[in-house]
Amino acid sequence: MRVGIARERPAGEKRVAATPESVRQLAGLGLTVAIESGAGTAAGHADATYRDAGADVVPALDLASVDVLAHVRPLDPAVAAGLGPGAVTVGLASPSTELPTVRTLVERRITAFALELVPRISRAQSMDALTSQALVTGYRCVLEAATRLPRFFPLYMTAAGTIPPARVLVLGAGVAGLQAIGTAKRLGARVSANDIRPASADEVASMGGTFIHLDLASAEATAGAGGYARELTADRGALQRQLLAPHVADADVLITTAAVPGRRAPLLVTREMVAGMRPGSVVVDMAAESGGNVEGSVPGEDVAVATADGAGEVTVVGLKDAASAMAADASRLYAKNVSNFIELLVPAKDGDVRPDFDDEVIAGACLTHNGEVRHPPTADALAALTTTRQASGAEVRAEGRGRAIDETEEGAG
Ligand code: NAI
Repeated sequence: MRVGIARERPAGEKRVAATPESVRQLAGLGLTVAIESGAGTAAGHADATYRDAGADVVPALDLASVDVLAHVRPLDPAVAAGLGPGAVTVGLASPSTELPTVRTLVERRITAFALELVPRISRAQSMDALTSQALVTGYRCVLEAATRLPRFFPLYMTAAGTIPPARVLVLGAGVAGLQAIGTAKRLGARVSANDIRPASADEVASMGGTFIHLDLASAEATAGAGGYARELTADRGALQRQLLAPHVADADVLITTAAVPGRRAPLLVTREMVAGMRPGSVVVDMAAESGGNVEGSVPGEDVAVATADGAGEVTVVGLKDAASAMAADASRLYAKNVSNFIELLVPAKDGDVRPDFDDEVIAGACLTHNGEVRHPPTADALAALTTTRQASGAEVRAEGRGRAIDETEEGAG
C-alpha cells in the first residue's frame, strides 16, 4: 500500500509528516512512500534525501492513488474530498474546530486517525504528537521571551556589579510548561510556576521550579479525567486571577501555557495584571491561538501594553506556529510519531494496512470510520452544527475558530 505525504499548505507551516528516517521505517513495513517535491525542504530535508531513503518524489501528490495520507496540520475539506473512498489519514486533526473536514471525511468513508486522540498510556508514548510538539513549543516560548527581554536571564557577578537573575513565572505546568520551566532554569532564571492539577507541584519541583500554591479549592475539584485539568468555575477563575496578580507583578517574564481539553483556553491574566508588571517585562501567551490565557494577546503579534505607572511598556507575545519555527526537530519527532502509529496499523509488517479496532490505541485515535464519527464529542458537535444550520438556514460559525461554513465548503464534500 502507498503512503502519501503532501507539502503542508497552511501559511507559515514548515513541518513535514515524514523524514528520510521515517520513510525507511515505513519501507521496512512493506509500504511504498510518495512525497511531494519540496515537502521537507523547510524542515531541512531535500528531495534527494527522500529519494535515497526509497521514496518516490512526485511533483504533485495524486490524492486518489494514496492509501494512507500522513499530514501535520488538519486537512482542508477539499483535500479530504480528493481522497479515494476507504483511504486512511494520520495526523493532527483538531476535530473540535475542523468540523467541515470531519463531515467530508465521513461522507467519503475515510478512516481518519487524529493524533490528538491517541490515548496517553505508556504503550502509545512514542505516537504522542501532542507531547512531542508541546516539548518544542515549551522550549521555544522561553527563547522568544529571552530575545525580547532587555535583561539577562542568569545571575552575573562581575567587576562592574552584580546582575540579579530574571524572574520567570510559568502558568500551566503540563508538557509545554514543564519544558519552559526546564529551559528557563537552564538559562539561569529564577523560576516559579502554578497549575491547578494537584500532581503538578511535584513535577514543577522536579524541573527545578518553585511551585506557587494558591488556595483555590480541593484537589478533586480541579483534577478532571485522564490526568487533565477541569475548567474552573467563573468564581474560582476570578479568585485564581486575584491570587496570581502579585506573582505576575513580580515577574520579569510571564509564560502562560494553560489549557483544558476541548475548551477555550482559560483567562489567567487580565490586561490590568499585565499593566501591573515592570516596564520592559515580557509576556508569552502560548495559548493565544486557542482563545488566550492573557487578555489582549494576538496570535502572531507583539502587543505593547503601557504599564500602570506610565514608565514604559510590557510586550505581550501571542505565540503562533512555535513548533513550526523549529521545523527540523519538530518534524523529526512528529514524523516518528506518525510512522510509529502507521506501524501499528500494519500488524503483519507486510505492507497491508489493517487497523485492528480492538486495539485501544487505534480505537481511541479513530476520528471517522465507515461513514461514522467515532469520537463522541466530535459526533455531538457535528450533530449540533448540522441542527443549527438547518434551523437557521444561515451561515454558522464553527466554535473556537470563528470560521464560516459556507456553501463552498459544503459543496467540497
Ligand atoms: P494541556 O496542554 O491540556 O494543559 C496544559 C496545562 O494547563 C495542564 O497542566 C493543565 O493542568 C493546566 N491548566 C488548565 N487550566 C489551568 C488554570 N486555570 N490555571 C493553571 N493551569 C491550568 O496539558 P498537557 O500538557 O497535555 O498535560 C496534561 C496531563 O497529561 C498532565 O497530567 C501530563 O502529565 C499528562 N500526560 C501524560 C502522558 C502519558 O501518560 N503518556 C503524556 C503527556 C502528558
